[in-house]
Amino acid sequence: QETARETDGAPGMFDGVDLRRLAERIATPFHAYSAGAIHRRIDELQAALAGLDATVCFAVKANPNLAILQLMANAGVGADIVSVGELRRALNAGIPAERIVFSGVGKSADEIAGALNVGIMRFNVESLDELHTLQRLAKAQEVTARAAVRINPDVDARTHAKISTGKSENKFGVSIDEARRWFAERKQLSHVQLDGLHVHIGSQILSVEPFRLALQRVAAFWQELERTGHPINSIDVGGGLGVCYRAGVDRPLAAADYVDVIRAALAGYRGRLLLEPGRWLVAEAGVLLTRVLRVKEGAERRFLVLDAAMNDLQRPSLYDAWHDIVPVADTPRPPATYDIVGPVCETGDTFARARELPECSAGDLLLIRATGAYGASMASTYNSRPLAAEVLLDQGRYAVVRRRQHFEEMIAGEQPARNWETA
Ligand code: LLP
Repeated sequence: QETARETDGAPGMFDGVDLRRLAERIATPFHAYSAGAIHRRIDELQAALAGLDATVCFAVKANPNLAILQLMANAGVGADIVSVGELRRALNAGIPAERIVFSGVGKSADEIAGALNVGIMRFNVESLDELHTLQRLAKAQEVTARAAVRINPDVDARTHAKISTGKSENKFGVSIDEARRWFAERKQLSHVQLDGLHVHIGSQILSVEPFRLALQRVAAFWQELERTGHPINSIDVGGGLGVCYRAGVDRPLAAADYVDVIRAALAGYRGRLLLEPGRWLVAEAGVLLTRVLRVKEGAERRFLVLDAAMNDLQRPSLYDAWHDIVPVADTPRPPATYDIVGPVCETGDTFARARELPECSAGDLLLIRATGAYGASMASTYNSRPLAAEVLLDQGRYAVVRRRQHFEEMIAGEQPARNWETA
């Protein structure tokens, strides 16, 4: 299976770009994305879907950079959005409204109205209250909203608890029993065309079983709905396909194996299929480049203090996620064991504990791998650290697709408490 490693050929090369030279031009830390690696993933998925009426809707939350969304748009990929901000980004990047689906438990009335206004493809509805709001707002605009029910299939995705969404205890979706009642009463929805099913059970899923189980439940429900006079024109199988964060340990599914599960579970289904992959399309196409600020000999451990921190990549501190970390070095060095940390003032600002690396010294360039999804998109300015730059690489060329945030941008909108008002 093709993996999007930065070492495509020579060490330290990523999509034909010499990362050490790049880091001389762009101050670390910064995120670098390989356009080629993303294209290979899109192609692999599209090839696996051959013969199906399928639309891939990239989960924008994974990487909302406009250049990434533009690349998706040019490849014919749509968008799965969860806010009006993501809607505006997708439209701005040239993703047509008819390829945009709107998911999320907390869509506000304004957001629903905005999405109706531009005529998005479909709403993935997650509660009865949302369904009624959609009906009311569509009626007010005199349009018909296309909607799918997000089913909570009550399956364990066997992933980290914080990114598991398909158990009945989770806030997402509704039970099949509740969905059944929605369809029974669907004729009362004058301005909502309820003809779709949606399921998304979680993220970073590395085995087919949870997908198979969830899709079998969805398939049984789809067949029941067809039998009882409720045609289903769209089934959205969500995202969740996992990637390799730890070489030699994580064994991600190939797109073909994943799609085979969909084909088998939904055999006989003739409507449109939607997929919402986020991570799988972009994670391994991204690396975070960072320099060693200093090596600190602690009382019990050796620390590598990097210029990147938890505000640039939250996954290790938030989910105890493993990310492979490698020096971009040319000469072999003896191994050493480090706690790899950032400069932020809390202990959680740790990328790795007791990690073995070739010996490092101040100024060395390191790569934190597989940061193309939920890296920059979850960044913050904690400790008043500006958002890092993002760079797109493509066959030896690079383009800065987000420059490092200026201090003035970071404080824009803040002001001294001057004009007090009474409320
Ligand atoms: N569709 C829906 C409705 C979702 O909620 C998500 C992700 C996706 C699709 C895309 O899932 P993916 O293919 O990327 O697994 N910040 C976490 C991941 C949160 C995922 C949230 N929902 C992390 O860094 O692991």
